[in-house]
Amino acid sequence: MSERMARAVLGQLRAAAKQLTLYPLDHPATGEVLGKLQQSGNDLSRDTVGEVVLSILGDSLYENRSLLAHASLEYNKLLRDLQNRGIESISFEFPVSEGDVYDLAAFASGLSGDIPAGGTIRLNEGPFTRAELESDEAISGLRRSYARSLDVLRGVALAIDVDEGFDLTGATWAVEQLVEHTLAQPSASLLLSTMKSHDEYTFYHSVNVCILSIALARLAGLPEDELKLLAVGALLHDIGKVRVQASTLQYPGRLNPEQWAEIKLHPQEGAAAILAAAAPGQEVAAVVAFEHHARFDGEGYPSLVYDRERHFFSRLVATADTYDALTTRRSYRRAETPNRALQVLLQGSGSFYDPNMVHAFIKMVGVYPTGSLLRLGGGELVMVTRNNEEAAEHPEVMLVRTPDGESLETPEPYSMIGRTIVDQLTPAGAGIDPAALLEVSGFESA
Ligand SMILES: [Fe+2]
Repeated sequence: MSERMARAVLGQLRAAAKQLTLYPLDHPATGEVLGKLQQSGNDLSRDTVGEVVLSILGDSLYENRSLLAHASLEYNKLLRDLQNRGIESISFEFPVSEGDVYDLAAFASGLSGDIPAGGTIRLNEGPFTRAELESDEAISGLRRSYARSLDVLRGVALAIDVDEGFDLTGATWAVEQLVEHTLAQPSASLLLSTMKSHDEYTFYHSVNVCILSIALARLAGLPEDELKLLAVGALLHDIGKVRVQASTLQYPGRLNPEQWAEIKLHPQEGAAAILAAAAPGQEVAAVVAFEHHARFDGEGYPSLVYDRERHFFSRLVATADTYDALTTRRSYRRAETPNRALQVLLQGSGSFYDPNMVHAFIKMVGVYPTGSLLRLGGGELVMVTRNNEEAAEHPEVMLVRTPDGESLETPEPYSMIGRTIVDQLTPAGAGIDPAALLEVSGFESA
């Protein structure tokens, strides 16, 4: 079953709830936003005969009995918000009416206290028990640890924002899970680390950098206890951005000197906040936050006056940080392909980045990193699922689009023998979200 329709409903529900919170009902855009929600709700009927029930259970979202693994993570915050409003399931009967769409958005946004019932959209009628909902145990541990890490970051950010102390116990616990799952399922973890979120860019970015750092440190032979210390630093490296105004972080153009000065403070702010937290291991995490924008050649920010190399962890995290940032679309620039991001690392090797780290990173992800979308000579589109260390030009791939342009609902293993790579596409350019293929392809479940 395609997750696309359900993801569209969640995206439109989020937009509609936001619209109703911020603007009066007669605002010109409100009708349009509600219309899109109605349309996406009705599109759900294409997936099935009869009604569709979206159920929220813990960190997971289900469409009827099927787990929607990617949507669960992509809309993690919305699902949390809906749960906090007391929503456990949403039943859709087709066609959904305009009035019922409004009632749903109004209740979800907190504007109305009336639980929608009796209409074409009804809440909390969930006909499925926990036992009836299917789960994918192989991947769910990894996904759950990603979701928990996002939660930790939200909690820490909130504490810093209101000038409250936080302790690192939650972060330590979350990264222990992340370390365990990343080591057990390296390829799946690397694919999951391509998750993006426009709304919570910094949090998803931080978890991605954490996963990439764990995988890289493992390759460098770091023992597990040190790996956990590194992972806490990687997870919290950008936490100082809580102190930067959202308008500066999301500014769509070139920053003016004041905005730039504000951004440049985030390493210090982050280090100070981490040092104020009470927990063992905080010092090294603070060092990572402090040094992650300092360059290999001593330039960068903050300007470091000490006469030693940056910490090994900082040099490692800086490499992973750059890679994930470059492969993400931001308000002021497009996303780069994974291969192009590696070229940027190579160009900056020895000046911006530690050459040993760049070398190890490329060895780890391969020339065509997991999640890369490649157009082949026959016109078909494939996604890289695993790096081939012996033959870099022949990574393991799945066919996601046929030469005729037909997108496969379930990608199929595909041989690269005798094929040529013509072009690389970004997820936006290909209209494909690599992380969404993690579950449909039954990744590493063997
Ligand atoms: Fe940063």
